[in-house]
Amino acid sequence: MFAIYGSGGFGRELIEPAREQLARLRRDPDEIVFIDDNAENWGKTSAGIKILSFDDLKPGDEYVLAIGDGKIRSQLDRKCRNAGLTPTSLHAADAYFGVDTEIGEGSVFCARTMVTASARIGRQFQCNIYSYVAHDCVIGDFVTFAPRVCCNGTIHIADFAYIGAGAVLKQGTSDKPLVIGEGAIVGMGAVVTKNVGPGEVVIGNPATPLKRN
Ligand SMILES: CC(C)(COP(=O)(O)OP(=O)(O)OC[C@H]1O[C@@H](n2cnc3c(N)ncnc32)[C@H](O)[C@@H]1OP(=O)(O)O)[C@@H](O)C(=O)NCCC(=O)NCCS
Repeated sequence: MFAIYGSGGFGRELIEPAREQLARLRRDPDEIVFIDDNAENWGKTSAGIKILSFDDLKPGDEYVLAIGDGKIRSQLDRKCRNAGLTPTSLHAADAYFGVDTEIGEGSVFCARTMVTASARIGRQFQCNIYSYVAHDCVIGDFVTFAPRVCCNGTIHIADFAYIGAGAVLKQGTSDKPLVIGEGAIVGMGAVVTKNVGPGEVVIGNPATPLKRN
């Protein structure tokens, strides 16, 4: 089976790329199933795809994680690995990968995404529609890009960071990359011109820490 873990909106967005990928590999599209932790959904279908429970999977079945939160993704990843499941990557047919790029297992690249050149990307990276990673970026594990993230050259993004829709990250230099710290959140539409500390939430143009009342 080819399991999409999470049958919500993003899960449904992954059905078509999954069908395309299986077709490219001359595999049966009926292998695709949803896994959902909500027992109320078991036995139902979503967009024509069966929703099963985690216990319906068998060692060797493949999984992709359709969950935007990197911390939750890491927990589910551990659960899947402990059950002997196989992490797999899902790359839309038109996702573009330039020279000298290394990408860890379990990555999801939606339609219209790009990695231009010489980038290092960790495990379980999620790259939503229209987002790009430019040259010489280094990205950790369980990092999430919402739609249309512009990640320009020589930017380092640590594990579990979340970059919101339409954010633009200023390019760094080889001696001074722009750094987004572990677990940081960049709000939708932010223009990030300076480093973002671990766990920080930044918004706006230029991006500054979100102040809560
Ligand atoms: C930054 C973010 C994480 C903050 O979320 P939150 O902690 O729930 O914050 P709130 O929605 O309570 O907003 C707090 C304040 O910041 C403002 N704000 C929130 N996000 C903002 C953003 N991206 N840019 C500017 N202002 C923003 C709100 O208007 C609110 O202002 P107020 O206090 O004057 O009313 C969130 O708004 C965000 O941008 N998430 C990314 C969403 C995204 O890209 N989704 C893609 C789905 S695929």
